[in-house]
Amino acid sequence: MQAAVCTRYGPPEVLRVGELATPIARKNEVRIRIRATAVTSSDTYVRGLRLSPAYRMMARLALGWNGPRQPVLGMVLSGVVDSVGADVTSFEVGDRVFGFDQHLFGTYAQYVCWPEDGLLATRPANLSDEEAAAIPYGGLLALHFLRKAGVRAGQRVLVFGASGAVGTSAVQLARHLGAEVTGVCSTANVELVKSLGATRVVDYTAEDFVDGAERYDLIFDAVGKRKSAAALRHCRRALAPGGTRLSVDDGRPKLRREDLVLLGELAARGEIRPVIDRTYTLDDIVEAHRYVDMGHKRGNVVITVA
Ligand SMILES: NC(=O)c1ccc[n+]([C@@H]2O[C@H](COP(=O)([O-])OP(=O)(O)OC[C@H]3O[C@@H](n4cnc5c(N)ncnc54)[C@H](OP(=O)(O)O)[C@@H]3O)[C@@H](O)[C@H]2O)c1
Repeated sequence: MQAAVCTRYGPPEVLRVGELATPIARKNEVRIRIRATAVTSSDTYVRGLRLSPAYRMMARLALGWNGPRQPVLGMVLSGVVDSVGADVTSFEVGDRVFGFDQHLFGTYAQYVCWPEDGLLATRPANLSDEEAAAIPYGGLLALHFLRKAGVRAGQRVLVFGASGAVGTSAVQLARHLGAEVTGVCSTANVELVKSLGATRVVDYTAEDFVDGAERYDLIFDAVGKRKSAAALRHCRRALAPGGTRLSVDDGRPKLRREDLVLLGELAARGEIRPVIDRTYTLDDIVEAHRYVDMGHKRGNVVITVA
């Protein structure tokens, strides 16, 4: 099979497209013929080991010292079940699925084998594979953090970094939960964030939301602490009494299969929509990583796997 391989940590150019043996599903696994994947910000952190020194050491121990032990990166997929292990009961050959795995990787390829009880669900029939691949990463992370904050109808939620993968999902999901949403992003993304259901959008290049009169029950940082630290230093001033501040970098999220199913249902009903910035082919994986490395993608960067 064709796959993009990463044998050492480094810049996007460490990725090479080549031929690998097609994996065979073990008893409890399904083999998926991947039609689309995504280059997530997490993928670029792993590839470049772009982490603080303490985390870099832990990542080397967990992922591989000089390069990832699993040389095929990629955490997100949309595709078709192509074979199933002897013990598999929840999927059949031909099922159209989408999914996410933060630990196994392997989706920058034509085939991958994942356990049937992983974060894998039926893909919404109304979405293309490219659209389906743009749902799980931002959707599952945003849902986890909005739940952790206990967001409920009528609350005022501010999403800082409303135009990224997590941010575009957080705006839509907070709206779905009945919150009144303010999104913060740069000028070029104001219309996009409005179109996702934000009642108000603050352009951070022109205005500091902390200076406004509005108060929020939740300030959700969807950018990540390294980049958001300066901008959010005084944000407690903008919290309503009893309000919470939460970052997408707070802790290791527990992602649930039920939530992937829910995201699929919401997408099928048109209550959330995938946001795709650019689409590349697997051959252009280096280009895709260069773009994501810049840190300003709008929603998701998707890879079509021919
Ligand atoms: N806790 C975990 O286990 C976990 C797992 C995965 C990811 N994460 C975190 O989630 C973060 C977000 O991921 P993502 O995929 O959504 O990122 P992304 O798609 O790359 O989006 C980042 C967004 O942040 C905005 N941004 C960039 N620099 C900014 C700055 N200096 N000030 C304000 N806004 C800025 C950009 O919007 P503009 O272009 O409008 O500036 C961009 O749309 C990651 O960086 C990572 O830290 C955490």
